[in-house]
Amino acid sequence: MTDRYAVIGNPVAHSKSPQIHAEFARQTGQDIAYDRLLAPLDAFAATARQFFSAGGKGLNVTVPFKRAAWAMVAAHAGGALDAEAVNTITRVGDDLVGYNTDGIGLVADIEQNLRLQIAGKRVLLMGAGGASYGVMHPILEKRPALLVVANRTPDKAVSLVRHFQKFGQCAVHGISAQPYAALAGSKFDLVINATSAGLSGEMPPVPAGIFAAGALAYDMVYGRDTPFLEYARSQGARAADGLGMLVEQAAESFFIWRGVRPQTAPVMRMLRGAT
Ligand code: ATR
Repeated sequence: MTDRYAVIGNPVAHSKSPQIHAEFARQTGQDIAYDRLLAPLDAFAATARQFFSAGGKGLNVTVPFKRAAWAMVAAHAGGALDAEAVNTITRVGDDLVGYNTDGIGLVADIEQNLRLQIAGKRVLLMGAGGASYGVMHPILEKRPALLVVANRTPDKAVSLVRHFQKFGQCAVHGISAQPYAALAGSKFDLVINATSAGLSGEMPPVPAGIFAAGALAYDMVYGRDTPFLEYARSQGARAADGLGMLVEQAAESFFIWRGVRPQTAPVMRMLRGAT
């Protein structure tokens, strides 16, 4: 019998996940169906539970429900505990287990596809919302030289750094929170934009000169050239959007559900051709 999966969100019509998982399934010969599930803003848990009661095997969770998913599941695994956000739910017996594959997806895209090894690099993470929480621990596990978190509202960056302080020693020179203005004079090898600024055609107020020679600028937003990426290119940095992260986090979800690892490169090529 065909196993049923879905991505749950609000809005969800724009999601590329059904296309990605259909391609993974075709490639690996897995018999699955993968749909979109629109949950009312005040009824995430009820909608998700109903999906599983009706026999559904797994959900991907997208905006704005990742925190709600974290609160709903019986157990956390694979990064969800630290991130306090869940993007993948799987049923184990009668229990729902929540994972977070976003950070694994980001790191896989940066290291395997874009060929920048994070170990020993100076990393700047911009933003202190859910997207940043999801990627902190996987970045730190790669042992960067240092990890600086900058945010428009500085207090939120301070809270985020405090939350992950227990992993701070993973970075050779530790982790810190700084206002954007304080970055003047610093240089980074990897600058990750985890803010939602690009969605409204804006960019974080980074001071000039933050890109080290050969730096990679990464925007988690995908499918558009954000002002941050345009700026990074004008400063001589290499620029990448978040499409690779999207496909890599999906591959990790697929692996959790099916125990089979799909190839991501052909799916990325397909999506780049289609966008
Ligand atoms: P999510 O949890 O989904 O990531 P969020 O909590 O609204 O969403 O976080 C969005 C992030 O983008 C925040 O870090 C936000 O900065 P503030 O905490 O100061 O609000 C950041 N952000 C959004 N628009 C921005 C802009 N124009 N410039 C700089 N940062 C921006």
